Amino acid sequence: MPRPIEATIVLDALRSNLALARARAPAAKCWAVVKANAYGHGLERVLPALGQADGLALIEFGHACRLRELGWQKRILMLEGAFDAGDTATARAYGLDLVVHCEEQLGWLADGPQDGPSINTFAKFDSGMNRLGFDYASLRQAHARLSAMPAVRSVALMTHFANADLPNGADEALEFFAAATAGLPGERSLANSAAVLSVPAACRDWLRPGIMLYGGSPFGQQSAADLGLAPAMRLQARVLARRTLQPGDAVGYGSLFRASEPMPIGVVACGYADGYPRHAPGGTPVMVDGMPSTTLGRVAMDMMMIDLRQCPGAGVGSVVELWGEHVPIDAVAQSAGTIGYELMCALAPRVAVRVEALSPQRKAP
Ligand SMILES: Cc1ncc(COP(=O)(O)O)c(C=O)c1O
Repeated sequence: MPRPIEATIVLDALRSNLALARARAPAAKCWAVVKANAYGHGLERVLPALGQADGLALIEFGHACRLRELGWQKRILMLEGAFDAGDTATARAYGLDLVVHCEEQLGWLADGPQDGPSINTFAKFDSGMNRLGFDYASLRQAHARLSAMPAVRSVALMTHFANADLPNGADEALEFFAAATAGLPGERSLANSAAVLSVPAACRDWLRPGIMLYGGSPFGQQSAADLGLAPAMRLQARVLARRTLQPGDAVGYGSLFRASEPMPIGVVACGYADGYPRHAPGGTPVMVDGMPSTTLGRVAMDMMMIDLRQCPGAGVGSVVELWGEHVPIDAVAQSAGTIGYELMCALAPRVAVRVEALSPQRKAP
């Protein structure tokens, strides 16, 4: 028997989250961000749910080529652009759009062949994150150089917000971007999930939602459910042992939890080697046989312990939801001092993954 832990990818959730993103700006086109193996969900698994996206955006060239092999014919945007001159050639061969954020990338395009298939580019402006992008002084020249290259078919303009998840957090960057790009031709792409959901002015020609597609909230103070998002990943494991603690008994490495009364606990087949955060302290929410409960003590490599006081009927084989529809991944992440993005991306390869197929869509009457 395989270890009793399983992740489920819920394609209906992905599809409805994408529809929700699109509904925020119906006139805009939408890149579905699928970097990091679709935020841990599996590129190939999520593809059937993303048919309504106008393009896919990611970072890994190998995965982009794989998307073409899988039959994705619409656009693909490489969010960090080329990592060397060879990637520029790959982009041309596979019809990939490139973000261009630095001099070196301009040089690889300029030095490559100028005949043959041409490339759509997105000149990236650094609107305050100081990560990737041309600064105010160099953006216009970069735009002009790209526009003059026969190898370049189009030049769009983009930026990525540092603080769109905070109230008015994108205002300054939005103004800076407007000033830096004033009068320049080309489409605009600015909005990550937080901006799609809260900054209408940022929802220009191309949206770039990521986390919201997977049912995670981009905001610390607003839950995914409140935003109408459905979790696309459910992580479940089973209880593999039930035992009863006596007052004074301790649980797990470091004896971090000590019972003050007789109490039943469950040992669950999930640990940090499955991607569950070791830093999640005792008290992190779980659900057992449909009842809310919490973890006890320290998460180990392959197991964790949970409180069964509220679930007297639970025992070996009981299903424990670690995150999913009833236990928001963001709540687990918050308890562990991180964000839902990290938990999704860290789902371990040893966890079996099942895909819940798309249900037929009802046609509008
Ligand atoms: C350039 C860029 N655009 C869009 C996104 C999607 O962001 P989010 O997952 O917060 O929607 C990311 C993710 O970090 C990104 O790096």
